[in-house]
Amino acid sequence: MANILEVNQITKTIGKRVIIDETSFQLEEGKIYGFIGPNGAGKTTLMRIMTGLIKPTSGEVRIDSYNVQTQRQQAISRVGGIIESPIFFEYMTGRQVLRNLSRLHPTIKSSQREEQIEKLLTTVGLEKRGEDKVRTYSLGMKQRLGIAQSMLGGPKLLLLDEPSNGLDPIGMRELRDIIFKLRETENLAFFISSHLLDELQQLCDELIVIREGTIIWKGLTENIVKDGQRLEDAFMELVQ
Ligand SMILES: Nc1ncnc2c1ncn2[C@@H]1O[C@H](COP(=O)(O)OP(=O)(O)O)[C@@H](O)[C@H]1O
Ligand SMILES: [Mg+2]
Repeated sequence: MANILEVNQITKTIGKRVIIDETSFQLEEGKIYGFIGPNGAGKTTLMRIMTGLIKPTSGEVRIDSYNVQTQRQQAISRVGGIIESPIFFEYMTGRQVLRNLSRLHPTIKSSQREEQIEKLLTTVGLEKRGEDKVRTYSLGMKQRLGIAQSMLGGPKLLLLDEPSNGLDPIGMRELRDIIFKLRETENLAFFISSHLLDELQQLCDELIVIREGTIIWKGLTENIVKDGQRLEDAFMELVQ
C-alpha cells in the first residue's frame, strides 16, 4: 500500500532542548493511526511539523511524496488537520463558515462549491443545522464542523490532536462514526492523538507511542495489547 506521509529523521530543538529526536515513520493510505504518549512527549509539536505549521530543525516530511518544506503547496493540499481546537466566527452559520473557507481553496470550482458544502454538512451530520449560528452549536458539533472544514481541499489524510477532549460519550460516538465513514467512502487516513486509550483501541488499526520525543513503539493495535488486556495497561508497561 502507498505511503501517504513519511516522517524522515525529524529533529526539533527549541533553545537547547531536544523536543523531537531523529524520528522516522510512515503512514499508509486509508489507515487509522493512534498517536499516544505522556503529556509533554512531543505529540502536538510533531503534528505541527507534519502539517507544515512549524519547521523542523532537521529532517523532512513528505506528504504523498511531496516535501512539506520545498513543495509546500502540493504537500499541504493533501493533508487537513485540527491541531488546536477549531476557532470559528461564532456569529456565522455553519454553512457560511464553510462557504468562506471554500473560497480560499483555488482547486474548488465555484460552480461546485455549494454542492460540496452540502455534501460535507451531510457527512458530518450537520445538514439540518447548516443555517444555525455556530454559537448555538455544542462542542461536538463544532468539532464536526472543524472536520468538514479540513475536508474542503480534498485531503488524503487528517490529523486530529486530541479531538475527543471535552466530548461526552455521544459526541465521541458520533466522531468515531464519522471517522469510520470517511475511511470507508474516501479511503481517508487518520492520525489521531488522544489520552482516551479505550477510545483509540476501538478506533485505530495501528498505534504509535512517543516518549520524550522518541517513538518507542509502532505497530498493529492488536499486537500491543495482549489477549484481553486493556491498552491502558499495555501503555503503562511501555512508558514506565
Ligand atoms: N514553543 C515552545 N517553546 C518552548 N518549549 C516548547 C514549545 N512548544 C513545545 N514545547 C515543549 O516541548 C515539549 C513537547 O510539547 P508538546 O508537543 O506540546 O507535547 P504533547 O502534545 O505530547 O503534550 C514540552 O516539554 C513543551 O513544554
Ligand atoms: Mg499536545
